[in-house]
Amino acid sequence: MKYPKEYLDEIKTRLKVSTVVSKTVNLKKRGKEFIGLSPFKTEKTPSFTVNDDKEFYHCFATSEHGNIFDFIMKTQNLKFGEAVKTLANLAGMRPYTFSKQDVERENKWQEYCLIYNKYVDFYHNEILQNENLTLPRDYLKTRNLSKKDVKKFKIGFVEKNSNFFKKLENEFSKKVLIESGLFYLDEKKNIYIERFRNRIIFPINNISGQPIALGGRTIQENNYLAKYINSPETLFFKKGSNLYNLDLARKLSNKINYIYLVEGYMDVIGLNKNGIENVVANLGTSLTDRQILILNQFFDDVIICFDGDESGYKAALRAAENSIKELHPEKQISFLFLPDGEDPDSFVNKNGKVKFSDFTKQNKILIHQFLFNHYKNQTTNDPSSMAIFEKKLRSITATIKDDYIKKYVLEYFLEKISSLTPLSNIGKKNFYSKKVKSLDSTKKHFNESKSISGVEIKEFSLLYLMMKNLDLIKENIHLIENIKLFSNENKLIFEAILKKLKNSEKLTINDLALDPQIVEKIFKFASIKHILNNNQNNKNKIFELLEEICKDLKNYDLEFRIEQLESKFSKDLSETTFNEIRELKKQKNIN
Ligand code: UTP
Ligand code: MN
Repeated sequence: MKYPKEYLDEIKTRLKVSTVVSKTVNLKKRGKEFIGLSPFKTEKTPSFTVNDDKEFYHCFATSEHGNIFDFIMKTQNLKFGEAVKTLANLAGMRPYTFSKQDVERENKWQEYCLIYNKYVDFYHNEILQNENLTLPRDYLKTRNLSKKDVKKFKIGFVEKNSNFFKKLENEFSKKVLIESGLFYLDEKKNIYIERFRNRIIFPINNISGQPIALGGRTIQENNYLAKYINSPETLFFKKGSNLYNLDLARKLSNKINYIYLVEGYMDVIGLNKNGIENVVANLGTSLTDRQILILNQFFDDVIICFDGDESGYKAALRAAENSIKELHPEKQISFLFLPDGEDPDSFVNKNGKVKFSDFTKQNKILIHQFLFNHYKNQTTNDPSSMAIFEKKLRSITATIKDDYIKKYVLEYFLEKISSLTPLSNIGKKNFYSKKVKSLDSTKKHFNESKSISGVEIKEFSLLYLMMKNLDLIKENIHLIENIKLFSNENKLIFEAILKKLKNSEKLTINDLALDPQIVEKIFKFASIKHILNNNQNNKNKIFELLEEICKDLKNYDLEFRIEQLESKFSKDLSETTFNEIRELKKQKNIN
């Protein structure tokens, strides 16, 4: 049994090799490629490379080479069919089961593609070549569209009295033609009508570049016809799952890590004309989780830039509330609001690429900031209004699927709210930059404790300093009494030394009677060794070093406790836990 080529191609199109590989191999970007340690061999220097443009991986150590299917088959020891299932699932596609329905569907799909290709090609050639079509040609000129733009987007025009149905009728059944959504039956007259007659048409392609639906714009605006119409949903076109221009824009994802999401066809084309090609449109429907997930598969930052009018703002708000659910670490969703009355098309045509990019840099805000600002603007300072405000933000947070994002977004909201209440200390530092800092340090702590080194080395330094300065420490024992050590072994030694210092008059290192192996380890790893040996008689320097070590160890302890509380908070979301975290963080910042 063979999988249809289109099905396999779609999996490949949806999944970058680096996305698949990085699930199991730690990859680092190097130029156009990624490199990492080979999964086929134990090695210390990376010899495994991934190239998204060329859609393959290559291991220089073992000469293993292949595409995503090969990778999954080899690393997970799966048969081809199983690899296809795994990857289709990862790509968010339905499984292909080889059932009778699947085969029928496949045949229908082949016909559907043929119909759309013929249709789109025919009307595209018409507008390019038929000089009688003055009205639509002039219209395109007034929109400043060149031949190049028309070709790039395969724009066409369906004449008023044209009837392509007749031409296709010889090749395809009426039922299939109706199911394509391009035609409908006028029951009174019993004739088949072109849905897009007298409209400029914009082909909507699937991710592999195959047209699967159309958008059509009238060239003579009036009150009784919709300005734009789209194909109805068909077997192969589902509105919430497709995005206009995704097929072209996704190819840029190896070079650019953000994508603009706009409302309309003309916005996509206008930005493209001005040299901004990383843009897709969701076509006037409300944004779905699925669309965000698709974009995040290719791009790290989705910048939602709707029209600068009331309906654009409302659509943005809806999009924010919907898509915050899907926010993941390492991905961003941002919003860009244009000046009143502008849409991306008009704005970029007036100002050009550079100004548009500058405007983006200066004005885009992150999704949680937008939501906060929006609801804050609807709130007065009285308790009941504040209560509604907080409840709303909490309920938005509760929809977020990722526990970490949920935690930090709630922290952001609560901190911002507390800065609005009269009792809070005014003039606090910008909370956002503080947040980033705490995220980094948590990460750092996590990485270090994973490979033991960080804290332990500090502890070794402390023990080393104590052993080398027993008299000094004895006189200043209060400086170290409350220090908490993490490693059990070190803790025992620390306590043993403390006890002896307290109980005896004069001590030498030999009186401590420590296990020589442990002493050796301490002497070997104490990073403070050299600097201390160079300052043997410099009391001030020794105190300074001691203070630094104690501060670091105290911070480790605080971070550890913060981390534990944060993980508790992500589950219980309780105010008490939140306040405890804040208290500890304050202590940590003072330190
Ligand atoms: P706009 O009315 O903002 O379109 O609708 P636009 O791109 O600025 O139009 P131009 O510049 O006048 O040509 C944005 C999108 O909403 C959908 C279409 O997908 C459109 O591109 N829409 C709009 C409809 O589906 N039906 C409509 O009647 C209007
Ligand atoms: Mn618009």
